[in-house]
Amino acid sequence: MHNKLQQIKKEAEERIKTASSLEALRNYRVEYLGRKGEITAVLRSLKDLAPEERAAVGQAANRVKDHLEELIELKTQELNARALQERLLQEKLDVTLPGTPRLSGGKHPLTLVREEIENIFLGLGFEIVEGPEVELDYYNFEALNMPADHPARDMQDSFYMSDEVLLRTHTSPGQVRTMEEKNPELPVKIIIPGRVYRRDDDATHSPMFHQVEGLYIGEGVTFADLKGILMLFAHKIFGQDVTVRFRPSYFPFTEPSAEMDISCVICGGIGCRTCSNTGWLEILGSGMVHPNVLRAGGYDPEKVIGFAFGMGVERIAMLKFGVDDLRLFFDNDIRFLAQF
Ligand code: PHE
Repeated sequence: MHNKLQQIKKEAEERIKTASSLEALRNYRVEYLGRKGEITAVLRSLKDLAPEERAAVGQAANRVKDHLEELIELKTQELNARALQERLLQEKLDVTLPGTPRLSGGKHPLTLVREEIENIFLGLGFEIVEGPEVELDYYNFEALNMPADHPARDMQDSFYMSDEVLLRTHTSPGQVRTMEEKNPELPVKIIIPGRVYRRDDDATHSPMFHQVEGLYIGEGVTFADLKGILMLFAHKIFGQDVTVRFRPSYFPFTEPSAEMDISCVICGGIGCRTCSNTGWLEILGSGMVHPNVLRAGGYDPEKVIGFAFGMGVERIAMLKFGVDDLRLFFDNDIRFLAQF
């Protein structure tokens, strides 16, 4: 029995030492130490030996077993280390090469402009509120002093879901919604940024675009407040160099109404293609809130007064960045978007 053990040991040592792969080592382990392995067979046959022999052979077999386990472990480490070494030599890693820069994302230009507008008005004490994009005819038109047959509805040819429900054509419905929610609180000093929808589609109009609405209601709010705040806004967003002018206009929900123009940011007011040679660019609509709108919001027009305004975010972004086709904002071309 001893001789047989020694013979197995010698043969196994030799094979393990000269093994050239991890796979070969795995096979040897099975062959010698596995369930049907040679050493295992010796241990199993102990019961057939005379009792006085059993202990000695058992111990010897276990020593050989531990010894082979250890050899296999050492050889495994050696082969692993060699494989790693070879891989490292092959990789020829040059740590002096510059790394691959990771592109970090950026904000969409319309988001940048919307946030800039929001921050200006937050700084002036306005609060940001939002309203639904799917809106009731009542809030979009009716409560804004535009009854069913009002011709001004045609200016905003709309997407209707049913006779009563449509995609909002402007952010103005948020005026009455906010008043309903806040009354009798004063002052109401809010802006409403959001998406709006109209059946329009060309280089300067998109069926979906963004507006920021403003509403300031209090006691003794005047047209001078409207002009002061909007002038300050124009200077903050386009720079101190621009001049503004107010032109009389008409909106059913404001009286009097005015459109605000800024001096052309492209030509400085001399006249160019962008401003159609007028030297002026229209940037928003505004006016004193109509008594009927105050009433719809639950306020008494004899006691409170206010102004409202609405501007297009795309229009302001186009002027600020000198973009001449609004569709670029929605094409998702990374070469365009990465410039902001
Ligand atoms: N809602 C108007 C529009 O979309 C803009 C506006 C808002 C005008 C508030 C006056 C007051 O054209």
